[in-house]
Amino acid sequence: MIKVKANENLVGMNTDYIFSETARLIADYDRRHPDKPSVRLGIGDATLPIAECVIRAMSEAALELRHKNCGYQPENGRKQLRELISKYYLSVGCDVSADEVYVSDGAKSDLGNLFDILGKVTVVMQRPYYPAYFDGAAMRGLDCIFIRSDVTNNFISDPDEAKITEPSVIILNSPNNPTGVVYPREILEKWVALALNTGSLIIFDAAYSSFVESGIRSIYEVQNAEKCSIEVCSLSKNAGFTGLRCGWSVIPDGLEIDVGNGKSRKISEMWMRRQSVRFNGVSYITMRGAEAAMSEEGLRYSASCICTYKSKAKKLKNELDLRGISHVGGEESPYIWTEIPSGIGMTSWEFFLYLLEDKGIAVTPGVGFGDDGRFRLSSF
Ligand code: MLT
Repeated sequence: MIKVKANENLVGMNTDYIFSETARLIADYDRRHPDKPSVRLGIGDATLPIAECVIRAMSEAALELRHKNCGYQPENGRKQLRELISKYYLSVGCDVSADEVYVSDGAKSDLGNLFDILGKVTVVMQRPYYPAYFDGAAMRGLDCIFIRSDVTNNFISDPDEAKITEPSVIILNSPNNPTGVVYPREILEKWVALALNTGSLIIFDAAYSSFVESGIRSIYEVQNAEKCSIEVCSLSKNAGFTGLRCGWSVIPDGLEIDVGNGKSRKISEMWMRRQSVRFNGVSYITMRGAEAAMSEEGLRYSASCICTYKSKAKKLKNELDLRGISHVGGEESPYIWTEIPSGIGMTSWEFFLYLLEDKGIAVTPGVGFGDDGRFRLSSF
């Protein structure tokens, strides 16, 4: 045995990340049923092909490397890509400059890594939650406060229930994973007001923003949100980059954090310090692909993919309606948050195993999101 002490926070965590554990069980089922593999409604993984313009851009970038090494890439991403991201924000009415965009290999990495710049702080999140929020906080030994999100409040956590008095980190996610519900503007305004009143930081996860039709796509659509919010976004679900890996965080230039002795420091500077130690930037080829994904052609193609995922969600919802199974989401989201049929008397793990073994259907058990009475369907 190595006698060095392990990170006790990691030791205290579940042995497996929920999606790794379900993937193992689903792969095992598929191995045992080679003629009838499972119907995949579990992990939210893009299934439609990558846009032709992205393929072209990445191929060209790869061929360029025959003649010229691209070398290390900027830790915060190529300027061309950051400018396209800034243009996207402008298109939804938000003033985000290219210098406030920090490109990364995806939202999940940033959501965990942002904890590196925070001291001992309480993390507030809705329950059910995306497991990486809770696991990320637990790995750093941070305490979490959960805000109710259930059928009685239409799955929208109300800041009035949060009872936050101390500066905290508030994680918001809309369209929400796992519920598929889009947070309305009035509630986001209340969260922003609460953050400003308590000196708290909002981390807004906009990973599913391109599924939104008329609601809020970016937290910066809410007045004064730039004074208290970091937004994390990604091309994984928005442009099918789950395997290519590219996302970003927006850190407004004016956002400062308490560094003790009555002093403050720009969060963007602290983030760049952190990133330059731990990260050498997204690969050149991927960023060239990401630029194509953010071009007009790329955005048009992504919009057509989102339509396909939404119509699949609609079919799933119809099936649930026919069976009288209560559910939410699936309209401006790929996710449908579904009640375990009453009277069945199973935990969400038992129900997951029953659906997999008896029906050949792979879903995600609610317990992975902190709610054992439900399960999540994905329309990807
Ligand atoms: C999901 O919710 O299915 C996730 O995006 C999977 C993940 O954790 O990467």
